[in-house]
Amino acid sequence: MTADSLKALVRTIPDFPKPGIQFRDITSLLADADGFAALIALMADAARTLDVDYVAGIEARGFILGAAIATALGAGFVPVRKAGKLPGAVVGIDYALEYGTDRLEVHRGQFPGGARILLVDDLIATGGTALAAARLLRGEGAQLAMALFAIDLPDLGGMAALVAEGLPSRAVMT
Ligand code: PRP
Ligand code: ADE
Repeated sequence: MTADSLKALVRTIPDFPKPGIQFRDITSLLADADGFAALIALMADAARTLDVDYVAGIEARGFILGAAIATALGAGFVPVRKAGKLPGAVVGIDYALEYGTDRLEVHRGQFPGGARILLVDDLIATGGTALAAARLLRGEGAQLAMALFAIDLPDLGGMAALVAEGLPSRAVMT
């Protein structure tokens, strides 16, 4: 399946969650068995040569794609969670969204010897979420090999911001 046929499976919902936002909804793609499998295969192939130890997925939609990509790559999965959800000692970072503010946390001390990580989310818009996750993981000693997304909204400049921060980044759909 091509990136264009995957794109046809993404729904656009106007004015969600706020007026003026064109929400790119991947639930319609996830519900399509062939589309979901093709998306995971394309994303895993984009990262296969990186030889990562972990895929880090960003809550919530990054969990769905990140966990599937991790099993396809034979890597572990690390959840980057919203505030107050992880049970152990955490380290966190606040960040700004296209439509609000939020906080991300990971368990502290997971990468004592360093680790190579593939950062995964469904979509990059302003890049605020992915940059915050990257800074959080780097602060924990991880080496970020790449940030990988199903969808890039290039007008919002997120991918350029990641690259400017020294993080190679790719997306399957634009
Ligand atoms: C969405 C999306 C990304 C982020 C992208 O998540 O899944 O994580 O926004 O926006 P940015 O590049 O401007 O930071 P959201 O915060 O809506 O959370 P959800 O996955 O829990 O729905
Ligand atoms: N996250 C940030 N902006 C978004 C958008 N336009 N659609 C879906 N998720 C988003």
